[in-house]
Amino acid sequence: MYLGVDYYPEHWEIDMIDEDIKGMKNMGVNIVRIGEFAWHLMEKKEGEFDFSFFDMVIEKLKSQDIQVMFGTPTATFPAWLVKKHPSILSKDENLQSRVFGGRRQYCYNSEVYKEYSSKIVTKLIHHYRDEKAIISWQIDNEFGHEGSDMCFCENCQEKFQMFLSEKYKDIEEINKVYGTIFWGQTYNDFSEIPTPLKTITTHNPSLQLDWARFKSHSLNNFSKEQIKLVRGLKGGHQTITTNVAGGFFNKWFDHEENVKDLDFVSYDNYPVWGGLKEPLPRAEIAMNLDFIRGLQDKNFWIVEQLMGAQGHTVIGYLPRPNQAKMWSYQAFAHGCTNMLYFRWRGMTRGAEQFCFGILDHDNRCGRKYNEVKSFIDEISDNEEVFDSEIKSEIAVLYDYDNIWSWKFQPQSIGFDFNKELMRLYTPFYNLNTNIDVIPAARDFTKYKILLIPALQIIDRELGSRLESFADQGGVIVFTFRAGIKDKSNNINFKEIIPCSVRTMAGIEISEIESLQPGQEVDIVGQGPFKGRIGKCEVWRDLILATDAKTLYKYNDKIYGNKACITVNKDGDGEVYYIGGGINIDIIQEIAEDIVV
Ligand code: GLA
Ligand code: ZN
Repeated sequence: MYLGVDYYPEHWEIDMIDEDIKGMKNMGVNIVRIGEFAWHLMEKKEGEFDFSFFDMVIEKLKSQDIQVMFGTPTATFPAWLVKKHPSILSKDENLQSRVFGGRRQYCYNSEVYKEYSSKIVTKLIHHYRDEKAIISWQIDNEFGHEGSDMCFCENCQEKFQMFLSEKYKDIEEINKVYGTIFWGQTYNDFSEIPTPLKTITTHNPSLQLDWARFKSHSLNNFSKEQIKLVRGLKGGHQTITTNVAGGFFNKWFDHEENVKDLDFVSYDNYPVWGGLKEPLPRAEIAMNLDFIRGLQDKNFWIVEQLMGAQGHTVIGYLPRPNQAKMWSYQAFAHGCTNMLYFRWRGMTRGAEQFCFGILDHDNRCGRKYNEVKSFIDEISDNEEVFDSEIKSEIAVLYDYDNIWSWKFQPQSIGFDFNKELMRLYTPFYNLNTNIDVIPAARDFTKYKILLIPALQIIDRELGSRLESFADQGGVIVFTFRAGIKDKSNNINFKEIIPCSVRTMAGIEISEIESLQPGQEVDIVGQGPFKGRIGKCEVWRDLILATDAKTLYKYNDKIYGNKACITVNKDGDGEVYYIGGGINIDIIQEIAEDIVV
């Protein structure tokens, strides 16, 4: 088991290293991560590579038997590079070029950037491929985080048009699929197809979804090329990972695709960040960990575990004594096997003066130091437990095409995919059950219960897999808008909503209503839930229960005869349908019915 810290020796006077390493050793550290932002230190001028600083650092760490994870430094390019090649910079949706300063301002489709990145990475790996102390390479840093997953530059436009011509082959096909006849948008040539920059009203939904798919392809392509380069050069004893940032469902790239070629996934676990007055709810911290475990369906590392308050311009909640230690235990309970804390010492200069580490700016070993030390002491004795596989009978299904479809057209101002997923995850989390969070395309036959929040894009293949899952005794819980769209982000035609879900759910949805922030509709329990009163927000599907049993209906003058929550016996299984944003304690009772 590796337990350690993120360490930036380049931030400090050179004579502090020995004292730092001694302090780490005393805390129980056996690994540090270095280098992920140090490109200039290793290539001060173009083509002049110098690894002597890190040679010295690694020798000192080795003398204390501390291993190393080394980050490739492509998240922060040197000023000399962007001065010579400003074309590497990404552009926002106003076509405003990002500028030097900050980080990750490069375009994933820049061939120039790929060329320079390959050079520094090749030199770095060549230099350290036989270094026994370096056991792992971290590729870049938090791909796509802080808005860096989106670029609208000319490079991206040209590659997007190529991406579309390869996908649709002829222009008539894309016109047909997109329905460009609408608003006279028919293309004569792929070179006429726009990137969805800011426009008056909104873009074509099929174009938007293809744009999101292209952005995902661009980022993942950049990452895969670097992983392939490192894999071809590294030592046999060295593994490859990357550190995934939080906010997965707000990102424009498919995370499962991103980590496919890695030896293991690493995660940056920040239960609280920036100006939040309190941490994320414990269920959401848990869901994030389950999502990370689900990416490769196996245990993972945490390479940035929060210990101090964090923020760039605004800080927030101070983790209480032993709260960060509790979050560390929670992470191990959800599949973490190795952990590094962010970071040894908070920096006094630069953009992260307020990202506090284990040691504060007074450089004393205080409460946080002792908290990490005690955790390392305790957790180290239980390695075999934490290497064991986590087995779940429940899975939450998500799909990035579906998430992006909602991001472009939320249909209700109050819609937030993460919130709708947590509406289903939390009640089952509260029952202390293991839950996997996995892509809908994955084989889910091993599970007993599927929780499927707001999955509007369900194609025939997925529909039939879900059908047979229920038929063979599985329980499915759908929520609103299930199945209404196809893979081109278009509404299904001549199909009664919820389309491919209709038969298995035993319902028909005659009308729908988007509810806006502050708008709530009462729902009343029927049958086993008679007398219970609940609330419905964000959305309501007005359901006709054809074969299904009504569990809750709307308490509404006009739609009082429409169901809100139903359950249908389908084959040997059951299919629940929750037709709106229902308060969690109502879903909690349904969860208890299902699980116990
Ligand atoms: C992220 C980054 C780190 C650092 C921390 C600060 O996780 O990976 O480089 O910026 O946030 O909290
Ligand atoms: Zn670009």
